[in-house]
Amino acid sequence: MKFLTIILFFVLVSEGYGKCLLRDISVTQTRTGVIVNGKLEWSVTITNKCPCAQTNVILNCTGFQSLESIDPSVLTLSHTGFCLLTPGQPINKYGIVSFKYTWEKQFSLNPISSQSSCS
Ligand SMILES: *[C@@H]1O[C@H](CO)[C@@H](O)[C@H](O)[C@H]1NC(C)=O
Repeated sequence: MKFLTIILFFVLVSEGYGKCLLRDISVTQTRTGVIVNGKLEWSVTITNKCPCAQTNVILNCTGFQSLESIDPSVLTLSHTGFCLLTPGQPINKYGIVSFKYTWEKQFSLNPISSQSSCS
């Protein structure tokens, strides 16, 4: 009985270690210097700093607009102001996703949720 408790403890602990946190997703943005129709182009880099793949990464895209179109396999915008990153595709451990958008201001694009799949 005690032995089983110890095993259960280690299973729970190792599962706990395997989980990614939302702060493991970092979003950095820089200006590319390109200006299109008076609007600035921004380069966004999203890095998964977790040693596990992450899926269904949702960003806060409230008010998000872009003059240049964004590949929907990289970023899909919903009508409710949320963006899904690489829909249906996991972001690999330590993986990077990047895209560009063009607008007069920078949008924060903060991560709101994600699911991790550790193996
Ligand atoms: C999303 O961003 C908007 C504007 O920056 C903010 O008002 C809102 O609270 C954010 N929503 C969530 C769920 O973080």
